[in-house]
Amino acid sequence: MNASAKFWNKVAAGYSRQPIAGEAAYQKKLQVTREYFQPNMKVLEFGCGTGSTAIAHAPYVQHIQAIDFSSNMIEIAQAKADAQNIQNVTFEPASIDQMSVPDKTYDAVLGLNVLHLLENKEEIIAKVHNMLQPGGLFITSTVCLGDTMAWFKLIAPVGKFLGLFPSVNVFTIKDLEKSLTDAGFVIDYQWQPGDYKSPIGNAKIVFIVAKKAE
Ligand SMILES: C[S@@+](CC[C@H](N)C(=O)[O-])C[C@H]1O[C@@H](n2cnc3c(N)ncnc32)[C@H](O)[C@@H]1O
Repeated sequence: MNASAKFWNKVAAGYSRQPIAGEAAYQKKLQVTREYFQPNMKVLEFGCGTGSTAIAHAPYVQHIQAIDFSSNMIEIAQAKADAQNIQNVTFEPASIDQMSVPDKTYDAVLGLNVLHLLENKEEIIAKVHNMLQPGGLFITSTVCLGDTMAWFKLIAPVGKFLGLFPSVNVFTIKDLEKSLTDAGFVIDYQWQPGDYKSPIGNAKIVFIVAKKAE
């Protein structure tokens, strides 16, 4: 298991007890996402954490494959799904890096609060593009530290080494837009909820619905 997966395993129980930061913005993101969903859609969510979003979206699509490389996160997610008798979400401990599925498997892929944690964001965005049907959707909400906290780049490796943070990738909203369009996506919807307020600074968040060409 890599250091970041260990980090997320350690914090999983605490993460599941935290109230959702920015409930109104979270509800708006759920709502916008559902406007794109169809009942026959097959969806992948990677970095699903404790599963709340996959469970919330379950009634609106055919099936959700929800993965996270922290087995503790998946255990909590599965317990929540069992308690609510959710039948159409499959939770699985897996890394998006190692996941292998045939091209065009999914109608939509969700990557929520996770792209900034990837060491190989471009590779994963390209992988998601391959996994999607023509016209498929990549829906992401991402903390972009590069706009207001670019200095974090300097302390991120030290924090990771000391086990204080997981791996954190610093980029701007413009960088993310470019990564998506370079991979072949067209940005169909974009919204900036309020900043992510951390004890060491405020960062921009961007919510994007990106579409693969038909
Ligand atoms: C900040 S949490 C977000 C959880 C959830 N998506 C949410 O919005 O509450 C990031 C999650 O991504 C997972 N994660 C990070 N990198 C991953 C990877 N390469 N493959 C699978 N899961 C990953 C972590 O284990 C963690 O549960």
